[in-house]
Amino acid sequence: MDYLPIFLAIRGESCLLVGGSRAAEPKARLLLRAGARIVVVAPSLTPGLSELVGAAGVTWHRRTFRPGDLDGMKLVIVAAQDDALANSVATAARKRGIPVNAVDRRSLCSFILPSILDRSPLVAAISTGGTAPILARILRARLETIIPAQFGRLARFLGDVRPAVLRRIPDSAPRRRFFENVVDGPIGEQVLAGREDDARRDIESALDDQESADDTGEVYLVGAGPGDPDLLTFRALRLMQKADVVVYDRLVSNAVLDLARRDAERIYAGKQPGYHAIPQHEINDLLASLALAGKRVLRLKGGDPFIFGRGGEEIETLAALGIPFQVVPGITAASGCAAYAGIPLTHRDHAQSCIFVTGRRRIEEDTLDWDSLVRPNQTVVIYMGLAGLEIICGGLLRHGLAPETPAALIEQGTTAAQVVHTGTVGTLASSISGKGVRAPTLVIVGEVVRLRDKLDWYRPRRSPQSAFVSRTAGAGPEASRQR
Ligand SMILES: C[S@@+](CC[C@H](N)C(=O)[O-])C[C@H]1O[C@@H](n2cnc3c(N)ncnc32)[C@H](O)[C@@H]1O
Repeated sequence: MDYLPIFLAIRGESCLLVGGSRAAEPKARLLLRAGARIVVVAPSLTPGLSELVGAAGVTWHRRTFRPGDLDGMKLVIVAAQDDALANSVATAARKRGIPVNAVDRRSLCSFILPSILDRSPLVAAISTGGTAPILARILRARLETIIPAQFGRLARFLGDVRPAVLRRIPDSAPRRRFFENVVDGPIGEQVLAGREDDARRDIESALDDQESADDTGEVYLVGAGPGDPDLLTFRALRLMQKADVVVYDRLVSNAVLDLARRDAERIYAGKQPGYHAIPQHEINDLLASLALAGKRVLRLKGGDPFIFGRGGEEIETLAALGIPFQVVPGITAASGCAAYAGIPLTHRDHAQSCIFVTGRRRIEEDTLDWDSLVRPNQTVVIYMGLAGLEIICGGLLRHGLAPETPAALIEQGTTAAQVVHTGTVGTLASSISGKGVRAPTLVIVGEVVRLRDKLDWYRPRRSPQSAFVSRTAGAGPEASRQR
């Protein structure tokens, strides 16, 4: 983020507007809407500005700018055509620590003005940091169509009842839930329909009900997909915005985590390969204790929670304790990586079945059914196979897979840092050595890998940074709690 979005209180404060051009008109109107007293300094004014000068709270000095005009000003907007003038006003304002915006001269600005959706007291401000104002305007237009005009009314109603709700529901988590139910439910509808009196009566009884309600929370076991946030489901996104606490894994990408509610508590429960930072039973207990404390807990897991994700174990504990939960599937790494690497997992001519296996380090000693992995016309997808890649490929060859069978290893699939290495079962392990491959990685073995030559479509930005936060190994839930 290049700019800090804030809302500035300027009601009754003096603000300086330098320039009397057409570009100054919308700025003057905006300042007036926020209750500012405007001092316009310009040798001449457009007819629109002249009209405003007649209004209360606008003073016009018919001359050019003088440094003394900055005295007592809360902020400055320069809408002058003259570059030298814009430059000198902006420089003088900055020197005196007064926020300044110069229209169409981003380098002179210490603040920029966003595109605004005004449903006062509800105001949404959208900015592209000055890079593409058209995008902000388009987005604002979309919001205009989905946010009812009466939303301001709803915001005022919520402001009115807020003191009573704060008094009756002192804890923040149940209070937030109460307000969400009001906004999303019949009470909110009544306000939008202009029936504030009915809404006020119903909110009283909702508060009475709330006091006698069971305050157990709920757990949302949500699949975060392989990394690209666009692959989240709508339901995942909705629950991510609702949760009070987010318990997340190592394989949840930064971009996905950014979509969780900003003020939710965050607890890192990830495991490093070969190093189980928090034993699984502690994670299970953590989820249960948070829910029993009345929180809405988002358990965010990479990919799909029911595919090599131990999601089943986590909700078994909840089920045993009678804690409400819901499960939201995610796109598993196999689907996501295959799609973004241009490798269909099945294909009429090459593979009629597909098998998912985990390739942990000590795979040889595991009870893997090697014979089932070397069947013809089948695609094998290996999760967690990087460390044991040599052993896995060796095992496949020893059990009869042809050494020239195509194979691919996908690093950080679906993210801007995705890299795809292709080779054969005989060459893949040696070909990636020394290439600085970054986990997570997925291996796909089978004839379908050849199709990538034709079907490769995804162009990652080749971000040099990992798409996944490298969190401190060994940090327990307490050590890694963040707000
Ligand atoms: C513990 S498993 C979890 C799988 C997850 N539940 C799923 O459905 O994708 C972790 C393994 O998934 C694979 N994986 C997850 N995300 C990946 C990604 N973005 N790119 C490549 N492999 C990924 C890697 O093999 C990683 O070691």
